[in-house]
Amino acid sequence: MNKRRTKIVATLGPASSSPEKIEQLLLAGLDVARLNFSHGTADEHRERVRMLREISSKLGRHTAIMGDLQGPKIRIARFRDTQVTLEKGQAFTLSNAHDPNDGNERIVGIDYPSLVQDCHPGDELLLDDGRVVLLVDSVDEHAVHTTVVVGGPLSNNKGINRRGGGISAPSLTEKDHEDIRLAAELECDYVAVSFPRSGSDIDAARKLVRAAGSEAWIIAKIERAEAVADDDALDSLIQASDGVMVARGDLGVEVGDARLVGIQKRIIQHARHQNKLVITATQMMESMIASPLPTRAEVSDVANAVLDYTDAVMLSGETASGRYPVEAVAAMARIAQGAEQEHITTLSRHRVGQTFQRCDETIAMASMYAANHFRGVKAIISLTESGNTPLIMSRIRSGVPIYCFTPHPTTQRRVAMFRGVYPVPFDPKAYEPADVSDEAIALLKKSGVVHEGDWVILTKGDSYHSTGGTNTMKIIKVE
Ligand code: G6P
Repeated sequence: MNKRRTKIVATLGPASSSPEKIEQLLLAGLDVARLNFSHGTADEHRERVRMLREISSKLGRHTAIMGDLQGPKIRIARFRDTQVTLEKGQAFTLSNAHDPNDGNERIVGIDYPSLVQDCHPGDELLLDDGRVVLLVDSVDEHAVHTTVVVGGPLSNNKGINRRGGGISAPSLTEKDHEDIRLAAELECDYVAVSFPRSGSDIDAARKLVRAAGSEAWIIAKIERAEAVADDDALDSLIQASDGVMVARGDLGVEVGDARLVGIQKRIIQHARHQNKLVITATQMMESMIASPLPTRAEVSDVANAVLDYTDAVMLSGETASGRYPVEAVAAMARIAQGAEQEHITTLSRHRVGQTFQRCDETIAMASMYAANHFRGVKAIISLTESGNTPLIMSRIRSGVPIYCFTPHPTTQRRVAMFRGVYPVPFDPKAYEPADVSDEAIALLKKSGVVHEGDWVILTKGDSYHSTGGTNTMKIIKVE
């Protein structure tokens, strides 16, 4: 069977913070470790990163790290007794004047005062990812008065969404500013921005990340209904970012579960068309928090994301706090690899009939066309600084592995997220210019990827050390 192409993002948390567990997760297939800044202290994250880097280098792996900002999630405050049970038909009030630690079954505080301005009679509020539904009856200066439409248990600090979206808090909170500095300190390869409303929220995040001294790529989490309201809104968010995450938790609540799968497919397709990364996230293996085996529906969910050609599939609670973190990664790896056997994952109609903007993009596309059509091509070698050339290549469906040859550890880690791309530490400057191609191929031959008589495609530019300069594709027979 071919090497797995779809990458696995797994969240580190209390269930995955010992050196043994981290090693097992890496061996099971973790490619990108996610730090969820909504939970845990800075020191806990520091310690996880330290272990992960140490074990990755022991195993000779290039693992990327993604810091995921909490963002302005709007939440209820706390109950006197941690939890209440709401009955259908009863009245329930959300108030910004109520003691935040003294909620009861009639009223609870909210930590977001402007909720009262954003809500109107007739709105449906979804609490705890839609498990509890409230209908807004009236709004006054300090409170939103509602009737319970779907009751059930409700506990401290649960999130609030509005059906159809539109409750908008500024995208980056004080805590996010702090966490951006932490992400820079930890040399995170990716920073994920929660609840962005538009490209300008991503621009603002990118500025802060750069100001903190980090070169991390910025992932926009698509989780507001406004972000997918029309193609222009979606495309401008994608355009501003380096990649997007289909953050199905909040998005599903706002757009409704029935629309979610179609929207997932649209987001994946749009991201790839703009040469951007895409991660499919949330509840992919949810039942594995408590069970060693996934359900049929979960298997099908992961496989479908793989067939949609997502770069990565993501685990949250399954690996952060579940009972079977290693089994969850192993199951995901197995399902991804199985789905990748289907022909539709190796044949491409990507951007047929469309023009390209850049020379390196054109070379990347031409290389993939050649690799997919010329029998005997066993590998693609992309000499790269930033990873941009292999990124563009990997937007195209293919069964041919793309090897990212780069001297930079940041790039080696970054490409851990790209579908079908594998890093190889390699510095062209260490060789005579005329020998670089042969040396690169010799490395792949030594590691058993290609053999005498195979064909290899190699891309590079005129200079051996500048980004954006790729202008050459060579097709070389392995001697
Ligand atoms: C390396 C190669 C160059 C190539 C460049 C592309 O430096 O030696 O020949 O042009 O990578 O880097 P990029 O960041 O644009 O993928």
